[in-house]
Amino acid sequence: MSETPIDIDPNFYSLNEPYALEDFQSETTSITSEIHKGRMEHGRRSPSDDKQFEAFEAAHIVCLVLDYHQPNPLHRAPIGDFPKHILDVGTGKGSWAINCPRRGPLSTPVTWMPPNCIFEVDDVQREWTWREPFDFIHLRQLLGAFSEDGWQALYKQCYENLHPGGWIEQMEFDVRVHSDDASLPPDSALAGWGDVFIGCAERAGRSLTTQETMRGKIERAGFVDVQEDLYKVPMGPWPRDRALKEAGQLNYHHWASGLEGYAMWLLTKFGAPAPWTEEEVQVYLAKVRAELKRPSQHIYGYA
Ligand SMILES: C[S@@+](CC[C@H](N)C(=O)[O-])C[C@H]1O[C@@H](n2cnc3c(N)ncnc32)[C@H](O)[C@@H]1O
Repeated sequence: MSETPIDIDPNFYSLNEPYALEDFQSETTSITSEIHKGRMEHGRRSPSDDKQFEAFEAAHIVCLVLDYHQPNPLHRAPIGDFPKHILDVGTGKGSWAINCPRRGPLSTPVTWMPPNCIFEVDDVQREWTWREPFDFIHLRQLLGAFSEDGWQALYKQCYENLHPGGWIEQMEFDVRVHSDDASLPPDSALAGWGDVFIGCAERAGRSLTTQETMRGKIERAGFVDVQEDLYKVPMGPWPRDRALKEAGQLNYHHWASGLEGYAMWLLTKFGAPAPWTEEEVQVYLAKVRAELKRPSQHIYGYA
């Protein structure tokens, strides 16, 4: 959130020039090799009809890379070494949840299910019926999932279902694209992307501004000692810093694989001034895809 000082490696602004188009395609190695070995050695690429999960998986690894220097890149909350009872709300494919209960090298995709990890399929907006309170509740990438009232009710249930002294942690990406050196042309599709989708989502009654609004709602639910860290997440391989360059490459994959899934439903249902046709969306996405690869721009989003 805006009042939080931005704790960013100064190298964020150092450009990794010259770099080539292949940098966008690189699957990355080095700092996150442990994470990536899991991804590459087990060698499963999601099938093409599973593009959205591929995007979520890329975003999962982006988060790990951004926090690779943390004692445990899966979370920032000081939950200690042995939290007993953890809930990951809206877990998706479950990479976070599967990795979380165990110590040791992280890998994704995960091929082994720890016996102490249980998946439950239910609507988290319904009244929770778990009897045992949690030590830690984690939420990530749930922007657009709930109405404003829905979010407030969800945080209230989190509060009521945590042990006193327990922690909630949330990580969200903001959808707006920025550059600090005017390398993002103001008339580009990418520069307008955030506002286009924030508008669609408002009309759909499911705001995409969760990254900005979550703190206020979490505090209103009764939580105290709220800490916030703001990340600038590069899109593309342009930073000189090794970790940020990897984050940028992965974030490029996140965008490239997720674009259509993120855009098609919202634009064809809630596009302005009228819902878009599928063809119009495809033309727009082709433009965005091409712009994402422009080596001249140094773009990022907040998380
Ligand atoms: C974008 S995915 C994020 C997955 C995961 N948290 C991650 O960071 O990779 C959103 C997830 O929220 C889940 N979700 C959305 N609305 C939900 C609801 N009302 N109850 C339970 N899960 C929900 C979806 O099923 C999906 O798995």
